[in-house]
Amino acid sequence: MNAFEQIKAREEKVICHTYGRYPLAIRSAKGCKLEDVNGREYVDLLAGIAVVNVGHSRPELTEVLAAQAAKLGHVSNLFYTTEQLDAAEKLLASANNRFDRVFFCNSGAEANEAAIKLARRYSQKIKQNGASDIITFEGAFHGRTLATVTATGQPKYMDGFAPMPQGFVHVPWNDPAALEAAITPKTAAVMMELIQGEGGVRPATKEFAHAVSAICKKHGVLLIIDEVQTGLCRTGRFWAHQHYDVQPDIMTSAKALANGLPMGAMLCTEETAKAFVPGTHAATFGGGPLASAVASKVLDIMKDEGLAQRAEELGAYAKDKLQDMAALYPDLISDVRGLGLMLGVEFKFPAKEILMQLFERGFVCNVTHDVVLRLVPPLVISKEEIDAFLAALSEVLKKQA
Ligand SMILES: Cc1ncc(COP(=O)(O)O)c(C=O)c1O
Repeated sequence: MNAFEQIKAREEKVICHTYGRYPLAIRSAKGCKLEDVNGREYVDLLAGIAVVNVGHSRPELTEVLAAQAAKLGHVSNLFYTTEQLDAAEKLLASANNRFDRVFFCNSGAEANEAAIKLARRYSQKIKQNGASDIITFEGAFHGRTLATVTATGQPKYMDGFAPMPQGFVHVPWNDPAALEAAITPKTAAVMMELIQGEGGVRPATKEFAHAVSAICKKHGVLLIIDEVQTGLCRTGRFWAHQHYDVQPDIMTSAKALANGLPMGAMLCTEETAKAFVPGTHAATFGGGPLASAVASKVLDIMKDEGLAQRAEELGAYAKDKLQDMAALYPDLISDVRGLGLMLGVEFKFPAKEILMQLFERGFVCNVTHDVVLRLVPPLVISKEEIDAFLAALSEVLKKQA
C-alpha cells in the first residue's frame, strides 16, 4: 500500500462515514498549492470550499496565531476580551456599518441558527406578533443542524432525520410572486443566499434580490442574507449583498472569516439586536481570542490587498474564458455562471468524470449539485495558475468531446 492507501484504510476504520471523500490525502499547503502524501503538487481551486480566501499557510496568520496562543487562548464569554472587539469592529466596518452588532460562533450553521433564533425572538418579544415562520428558497443550503437543514429544505439532506423542526416554508428560486404569495402573518423572516453555492452556483437575478428586499419591507418581515459562502471578498465585493439593491436586517458569515480556523458570525441591526438579552443565546467558543485575533488579521489582509477587486478582475477573466469553452463545446457544457471567484460550470452529465481528470492533471476543485464544477480558489491565485487550470480543462474537454 502506498501512503495514500494506508491513510484511506485507517480512515475507513475510525471515522463516521458521512463524507464521500476524493482520493487525495493532503499533507501541506502554501499559497494556492496543495501537496499530497505521495509528494504530488496540485493547484487549489477549491480553497477548502471557499474558506482559505487569503491563501494557505500565510506567515502573518501563523505569527498572529502563535503569539495569541502564547498570550491568551480561551477564557469564555463571561469575560471581556479586546481581540473579540477588534474582530467585531473590523467586521462591521467591512459591511460599511450597515449592521450594528455581532454575535460570534463557530460555523455557518451556527451563524444561521443564531439568525433564525434572533428573527423568531424579535417577532415574538419585540414586535409581539407571534410570527415564527422562516421562508427559504428551493436549492438553498444553510447548514446541517436540525433547524438549518430544515431551512435548507432539500429532501436528500433530511432523509432519516424526522421529525424536523416546524416553521420553515420553501418557495421557488428567482420567483418573487411565489415568495409574496407565501408570506402570511406567521412569517418572521426570509432567509436567502445571493448566490446559491451548494445548490449549483446559482445567482439571484438583480430583479429578484431587489424584489425580495422590497417584499420583506412591505410586509414587515426580516431579511436574513446568508453570506457564509459568498462573503469576505469571494464575489468581487467584500459582501455579495453589496452587488445588489437589498436591505438585509441580518447577515451571516463563517468559512473564510478566520481562513480555516472555525469561526462564524451573525451581524444584525440595532433594532433586531434588541431581541437578544443576556442568557438568550451563547456559544462557549464564540469569538474566542485565537479565532478573533486571526479573523482581525484576515480582515486587514483582505482590505490591504484589495482582494475583492482582485476576485472581481480575475473572476471576470476566468468566466470569459470558460464561456468561450462553453461556446466551443455546447454538447458538454450547458452554462457558466457566478460572480467574482465563485464560478460554476454546469455540464450536461455528472461532472465527477471531469473532476477526476483534473485531479490527474494536478488541479483541485469540486462538484456540487452533481453536474456543476465549482471554482472557488484562494483569492490570491495568480493569473498564471488560472491559465494553467483553463488549459487543463480545455484538454479534458477536448478528450471528452
Ligand atoms: C451558504 C451556506 N450557509 C451555511 C453553510 C454551513 O456552514 P458550516 O458547514 O460552516 O456549518 C454553508 C456551507 O457550505 C453554506 O455554503
